[in-house]
This record gives sequence, C-alpha cells and structure tokens, in this order.
Amino acid sequence: MTAAGEAVGLFERSYGAEPTQLWSAPGRVNLIGEHTDYNDGFVLPFAIDFRTVLALRPRSDGRIRVASTFADDVVDVEVNELGDIFPGDRDRVAEWARYPLGVVWALAELTGKTGHGADLAFASEVPVGAGLSSSAAIEAATATAIDALWNLGLDRPTLARASRRAENEAVGAPTGIMDQMASLLGEADSAIFLDCRSLDAEVVDLGFDGAGLELLVMDTRVSHAHSTGGYGDRRAACERGAKALGVRALRDVTIADLERARELLDDETFRRVRHIVTENQRVIDTVDTLAMAGPRAIGPLLDASHASMRDDFEISVPELDLAVETAREAGAIGARMTGGGFGGAAIALIERGTADTVARAVSRAFADAGYVAPSVFPVTAAGGARRDG
Ligand code: GLA
Repeated sequence: MTAAGEAVGLFERSYGAEPTQLWSAPGRVNLIGEHTDYNDGFVLPFAIDFRTVLALRPRSDGRIRVASTFADDVVDVEVNELGDIFPGDRDRVAEWARYPLGVVWALAELTGKTGHGADLAFASEVPVGAGLSSSAAIEAATATAIDALWNLGLDRPTLARASRRAENEAVGAPTGIMDQMASLLGEADSAIFLDCRSLDAEVVDLGFDGAGLELLVMDTRVSHAHSTGGYGDRRAACERGAKALGVRALRDVTIADLERARELLDDETFRRVRHIVTENQRVIDTVDTLAMAGPRAIGPLLDASHASMRDDFEISVPELDLAVETAREAGAIGARMTGGGFGGAAIALIERGTADTVARAVSRAFADAGYVAPSVFPVTAAGGARRDG
C-alpha cells in the first residue's frame, strides 16, 4: 500500500472520520557536506523520492491529536498546553510525537499566533534510522500543513528554522538545519546548495540521468540517534575549535589557516576542524565540478569526503566503510557515508544498469563479514514538502 493509503487508513481507524487534507514531505540524501551545517558552512543535499504523508482534518476546538504507523497510541494535547510540555516537560509525550508536536509548538512560539487544532495521522516510506531524515520529513510535512491551517504565511526557510528548533529543543537532538531545508526546498533532479549561515539556497542541476548515472543508497541497518552521544560530542569539538581559533564558526577557517590550527589545537580537535574545513571546500568544488565537468567527475570528491569522515571526524562505522569500499570495487564512480554517521546509510554514484551488480556485491560482503543484511536501493532527487490533496 502507498504511504498515502496507509495514512488515510490510519486516520480513519484512529478518529472514525475521513481526513480532508493530505500533505507530504520527502527524506533527503546529502550528496556532500557533512557536519558542516552547524558550523555555518555549506551542504549539498537533495530531497528523495521517499515521502512521509500526513492526513489531516482541522478541528473546531483547540485539540491536537497525532497518530502514526510507528505507534499504537494516539497522543492528544491542547495547543495551549504545548508551551508547558516543551522543552522542559517533553517526557509527557511519547518520543515519536515530539517531532510533529514540537513543530506546532515552535510555530506558535515564533509567531505568537495559534489557530484551531487538528487531527493528524502519519505514514512514511522513509526508512527510520537510516540517515535519510525521516524526522525532517515529519517536521516539514507538519510545518507546511500548520502554516496553511493557521494562515501564517511563513516562507520555507522560516519553516525550516522552526522545524530545527523542534528537533533541537522539543526532541533534544542538537542537529543543524540541512535536513529541514532539503525536505522543504527540494526540486526534481536537483540538489540544494545551501549556505547554512545566510540560508541562501541555490538549486543545482545534478544531471545524473543525462550522464547515464544513478545514485544508490546502501542502508547498513545500523541504527543511530542524534539525541545521544557522538553527534553532540562532534558538535562540541567544533565549537571548541572555533573558540580556540578566535572565529565565530569553523566556516570562517580556510584551508590556508590549517597550519596555524595544527599548532594551536590538540590532535583530536585539529582533526575535527580539518574535516569541517576541507569538507566545506569539497562542497564548493563539487558544485563547480558539476557545472563544469558534469557528475561523472565528482567521484574523487565523494571518496575524499568519506575518508575525512572515517579518519578525521571519526563518525563512520565498519559497516559503512565496507559498503563504501565494496561499492567502489564493484565499479562505483564514488561513494561515501551520508548523514550524521554512527550508522545509517552510505551512497554510491554508479553507472546506470549496474545497481544489481553493486547491490549484490555489497550484500555478499556484508554476509561474509557476518553483518545484518543491508538494504540497497536507488533514489532520485524529488520535490519538497507539498499539499497532495
Ligand atoms: C544529521 C543532522 C544534520 C547534519 C547531518 C550531518 O542529519 O540532522 O543537521 O548535521 O547529520 O551532516
């Protein structure tokens, strides 16, 4: 069944009525630019053809009810109550419900306006825990729907900021803004070249199809959560590095500054900084290379990005390294882990028609290593959050 069919079915079972609106928002793959977003740097993500669907029916009172195919229970709150729940008392609502309710809260806080409540039901095709931003898809679908429901008239970068606030404060994951921007601004066949300081976004033609290429996702099925552990540690290391170097954010450090950074910083912090500084440059180089030489020429940049995350930023895991190496040996033009790391998915840029060969090679390598079978599938760049009905 489609996610839309599932969302409608769940809505009817949960609330005994039919939804009157359908909204959807995509997950994302980041082509390059990892952990650069919260350093005010550059990223190049694209929205993918896997979406979260939100079935909705406005209510005439101030209640918000949320149901999801991930959970058995409906969460039921008053819009007016959200300010008491978030951020301090978030344990009052189930974790999955903090994403949509956090967005409703963040929009109310931002605008000082609220409107009527609504009944909401979510179903998703975006695999959870795969590093494909299933959470941003929920947030973006909610943000666009509530913006319309309450007549807020906010632009998409503002909706992305509110969604990030929900993730940071209502959920408690210290993430940047890349995923929400990708889910809200995505366009077919294109990536979004985003300056995370100004939020200036440029649509960049990927040209994979025209060049006879495909992009494969290799989900290691090693799941991760950014509200705990490594992600926050990396963020703290970057902030420490920026402070020691006397800059507002690592975005302001250039490759030429790295020599001085090596003298000032301890080895680990230096390597964290070097990843961010070189990764920012790789994003810019990827955008230039796509325009001047086409997508076939970006392979070495993808490979260098993976090496930097594995060796300097240390956010890869053996399963991601194996997926990347095996894909390359099986003919991929370039491959790298994507997303926050510590699990999730890698991507490989491959010749059209070789997806089965690469997928088989990766599955075999995982079986030989005794790892859980990976899930390997192609993705294409798709449009951002929208109303579907
Ligand atoms: C996660 C976060 C993003 C970004 C990436 C790493 O997806 O949600 O904000 O930091 O990790 O690039």
